[in-house]
Amino acid sequence: MKILKILSILFLSQTILRAQTSVVWKETYPGIWKAVVGQTQRHSLLQAAGGHVNLSALQQLPKTTFPLDKGAIEIKIIQGKTYLKFPLQRDEQLFGLGLNFQSVNQRGRILNLHMDHFGGKDNGRSHAPVPFYVSSKGYGVLIDAAQYITVYAGTGVRVDSKNPPELQDRNTNKKWSAQPYSDAVEVLVPANGTSLYVFAGPSPMQVVQRYNLLNGGGYLPPKWGLGFTQRVPTLYSQDDILKEVASFEEHDFPLDFIGVEPGWHSMSYPCTFEWDPTRFPSPKLFLDQLAAKGVSANLWLNPYVSPKSSLYPLVKNLTGSHTVWNGLVPDFTLAKTRQLYKDHFTKNHLNIGVGGYKIDEVDGYDNWVWPDVATFPSGTSAEQMRQMYGSMVQQMTADWYQEINKRTYGLVRASNAGAAHLPFVIYNDYYNHKDFITALVNSSFIGVLWTPEVRASKTAEEWIRRMQSACFSPMAMINAWADGTKPWTFPEVADAVKEVANLRMRLLPYMYTTFAAYRREGKPPFRAMQLVDGFVDQSTMERGQFDATNNPYQMAIRKDIKDQYMMGDDILVAPMFAGEKTRQVILPKGKWFDFYTGAFVGENQLIKIEPPLEKIPLFVRDGGIIPMVPVHRQAPKSGEKWPLELRHYGQAPGSFMLYDDDGKTFDFEKGAYSLTRFSVQKDAQGKLVGNQPEIAPMGYVKEVKWVFMTN
Ligand code: GAL
Repeated sequence: MKILKILSILFLSQTILRAQTSVVWKETYPGIWKAVVGQTQRHSLLQAAGGHVNLSALQQLPKTTFPLDKGAIEIKIIQGKTYLKFPLQRDEQLFGLGLNFQSVNQRGRILNLHMDHFGGKDNGRSHAPVPFYVSSKGYGVLIDAAQYITVYAGTGVRVDSKNPPELQDRNTNKKWSAQPYSDAVEVLVPANGTSLYVFAGPSPMQVVQRYNLLNGGGYLPPKWGLGFTQRVPTLYSQDDILKEVASFEEHDFPLDFIGVEPGWHSMSYPCTFEWDPTRFPSPKLFLDQLAAKGVSANLWLNPYVSPKSSLYPLVKNLTGSHTVWNGLVPDFTLAKTRQLYKDHFTKNHLNIGVGGYKIDEVDGYDNWVWPDVATFPSGTSAEQMRQMYGSMVQQMTADWYQEINKRTYGLVRASNAGAAHLPFVIYNDYYNHKDFITALVNSSFIGVLWTPEVRASKTAEEWIRRMQSACFSPMAMINAWADGTKPWTFPEVADAVKEVANLRMRLLPYMYTTFAAYRREGKPPFRAMQLVDGFVDQSTMERGQFDATNNPYQMAIRKDIKDQYMMGDDILVAPMFAGEKTRQVILPKGKWFDFYTGAFVGENQLIKIEPPLEKIPLFVRDGGIIPMVPVHRQAPKSGEKWPLELRHYGQAPGSFMLYDDDGKTFDFEKGAYSLTRFSVQKDAQGKLVGNQPEIAPMGYVKEVKWVFMTN
């Protein structure tokens, strides 16, 4: 008996010993360490997204050392699952971990990162369940596994914790908490191994830059992609769409691309990817007529193949065991499936001028996508397929456009890690304006883009407030598929809607340069305040020491800042929401100025504003230079040269490196672009003066007009 006991103890300790995995962290790229633990997996998220590292840009970032205590990272593999533990410090905040809609700091949350349509709660089920977190202490961690990963972001407390919570007696202590302090992030990966990455900063922004650059940097949209887009009602015919385009012209309202919803397919849900002969009798003529109006077409689809499609018999043996709405679910991990899609889509769409796609329904819900018991011919599990599907479809279509040297820009409902380089913006069917802004804030941590699309509104006030947000986002869009709304649907605010759409068009040089920085430096174009240098609170003051009277600013930055964001380096956007006449804005360090008037508004503080209905509050940092052009309805045509106006704000000298290229091909990758440095200095009398460029920037006339906004 005794011997048996000893033997079983010996056996148990052996198992635990074997479970402990030693890890080798290899600095694969500057400031990025990789470790492969356990069994190498056949699929990974980064591989599905297909990005290629931008080494030269990574080399520009500061040299660093491994940002965590290696000894405090624990990795075990037990019964086919990988257990990870990373250390946490007391005042650390954690950002990222999927496209969350309601919270920014994820510390203290449990997230089951599972591809899905957002269901109203930040629980990990999301359109981009990216297993990447950025710490306020300036490092990041990515678990590159195409699995349903559970992250305990500072919730569990271990017996062997180095910094255990205080023991409290609930009988007597009012401070007793059901969720005591935790000093670790713990992760469960349901696979017998995974790849891991640790990213150094030193700032949270540099962490994000490294993460994006590992995957090729962000996508640079064609210029038309930054113009306005309208998505038409589902059953609109080619004639209806041409009339819609004409009415935008009559209203003199910006329009660069039009979204064609399910009715273009001869059958949808599942789809044929073939034009419906009654509504679209002559697709090529239709696309040519649109092109003659300077408008590009974006086609809606879900990838599930209808039995009525000529693609059906060809892909039949290359699809999963389960159907979606009776359509086949293609196995896109197979090169043959991708080739068949390419042939079908090239022939029917790309060859006749389709500008891009909206890839719908690749996220979920559970009750209509393939279940986890589905099998696929490649042997890829249903779970892996679910986590990677959106990335694979994005990558596949992006490649087609890259091959024909034409930039595209579209929409997708599912994405994942490493997707920054892909030409897609995430959207969904949820419709809470405030939560849409929080999603925009959160998108910046995880290398995805998000649009707070406008569909319908109860009041004119809601309509203008939503339109303002959409115009200050990666894609300025009305999605009228169900409601048939137009920019001028609420006549009371029609002028204000046009004003903000025109303002977006005027800001094209600024926005395009901002996107170029996404591409070249990995800096997200629309970004959380937490990514602004020095903005994340680093003080050691304890929570109780803050109060709203003595240090409101300190208190505000401790909270989740989820209703304001940066567009590029210099413009702070503080959207307004229906029913609210005033709001608070947190201004980071340095002086800040009103975009519209140039007036000083504050510095390193919390301000209260009461903006008029027709203006979205925008603020510019001291020394900020904002390049603008006259109002145009559309992005510039080839060879067009526009005059530049450069607005300078504040009293400080400043500079702005304007980026430009042809706006539509990938020739910039071979060096066909211009970078022009604009700067403002003080002359001998202390007066601010701006320079004139030595050679004209690519798409602009040489002589620029300087406007000094602040007196
Ligand atoms: C939804 C999608 C909408 C619209 C609609 C058309 O799934 O989210 O934006 O495209 O399908 O049926």
